[in-house]
Amino acid sequence: AENMLWGGRFTQGLDPIMEQYNASLPYDRIFYAQDIAGSIAFARANFNNGVLTQDEFNAIEEGLEQVKQEWAQNEFEIKPNDEDIHTANERRLSEIIGKEIGGKLHTGRSRNEQVVTDMRLWLREELRQIEKWLMTLIKTSVQRAEAEIDVLMPGYTHLQKAQPVRWSHWLLSHATAFSLELERLREVIKRVNRSPLGCGALAGNPFKIDREAMAKELGFDGLLYNSMNAVADRDFVFETLQWGSSFMMKISRWAEDLIIYSSLEFGFVRLADAYSTGSSLMPQKKNADSLELLRGKSGRAFGHMAGLYCTIKGLPTTYNKDLQESVEPLIDHIKTLGDSIQIATGVLSTLTINPEKMLAALAPEMLATEFADYLVRKGVPFREGHHISGRVVALAENEGVPMDKLSLEQLKGIDSRLGDDVVECLDYERAVELKDAMGGTSKSAVRQQIEMLNKTIAED
Ligand code: ARG
Repeated sequence: AENMLWGGRFTQGLDPIMEQYNASLPYDRIFYAQDIAGSIAFARANFNNGVLTQDEFNAIEEGLEQVKQEWAQNEFEIKPNDEDIHTANERRLSEIIGKEIGGKLHTGRSRNEQVVTDMRLWLREELRQIEKWLMTLIKTSVQRAEAEIDVLMPGYTHLQKAQPVRWSHWLLSHATAFSLELERLREVIKRVNRSPLGCGALAGNPFKIDREAMAKELGFDGLLYNSMNAVADRDFVFETLQWGSSFMMKISRWAEDLIIYSSLEFGFVRLADAYSTGSSLMPQKKNADSLELLRGKSGRAFGHMAGLYCTIKGLPTTYNKDLQESVEPLIDHIKTLGDSIQIATGVLSTLTINPEKMLAALAPEMLATEFADYLVRKGVPFREGHHISGRVVALAENEGVPMDKLSLEQLKGIDSRLGDDVVECLDYERAVELKDAMGGTSKSAVRQQIEMLNKTIAED
């Protein structure tokens, strides 16, 4: 037990299963660079307040740089007592520069503050990368919307044909959802990027450490002001899991639409080979596995969120080892998010559309509302117009013909206010172009949406 960091009052070693059960190094080694950056900032602050001499600080900094190189080059040799990334780095530092100086690094510091410093530094960079990827996904949607603005398709409610819309409008409906997620993500990053360093185990630092200076060196945007909160808090993990769950829910619905649209029955879109797979048994199959995984992995995100809530809800104040259980779900969650956004972007930028199929799926009945709107323009109250239009639909049904095959006489027979010009209601393009109020599916309204989305993804 002697060579353990906390071995002073322990006389026996750990049960081997306990050792492995307790260890977080297999996954928190991902934070090696952040852990070392945090240690250097801490040592520098302890030099500035007189705890370390210049020579001691220099030795620590150089030693830590070497430790970092070893990790980076995959040469770091893990020893049995390396419980987590903090103990591993400190143990190795002392081997390199000697225990006399190495043993001074941890003055006034606790792993409780270290672990959240590492996690926040790591997460900040990951979320910034995710922000970029998300912007690319939005940009890809917007570019397609611009290029394919002339394509019409059926818009659905209840998965029933509802009203004709532009394919671009469908694209932008999801891009808008993604842009709201982008807004939320930018909020989350702000609160992730606050420094807990200098808070100690729970009570604070006894050596007048300059927390502001350390935060600045590490690129944090501010401090966590209460030391007990700083080590107890995992809101930054929760917010990330919540955000990611919300995003995965959106991408899952997007994927579900495309799964439906790529089925043979719809045939609106065709996935590139790079994002589909075949069947080992049925040669004709081309499955949208990429989209199904996007839908499926959303469940994993929600699970991590619910799981961590259960883990943390009953903990007494400040640090408890249960908190270590926040690390693995976070790492897995970030991987799921990063992969998912890139896969979605790949799927979207490579799929091909079949405008003829989309057009063929439009049905005259989807224009029934146009008859009602037509009557409204002639001064008929909408409710009455809706009723008359309903009778047109019923007549077509009874006659066993599509609505556009009814004669003008038949239409006039239902209501004399259906004049000669009523045939214009049967034009899909016209129906779409009439929806020109802000946010609608007319060309000008779609272009306006494109402009607004372009603003949210403009590089600043
Ligand atoms: N590895 C731990 C974690 O991830 C940090 C260590 C704090 N441990 C402690 N016994 N105070 O939460």
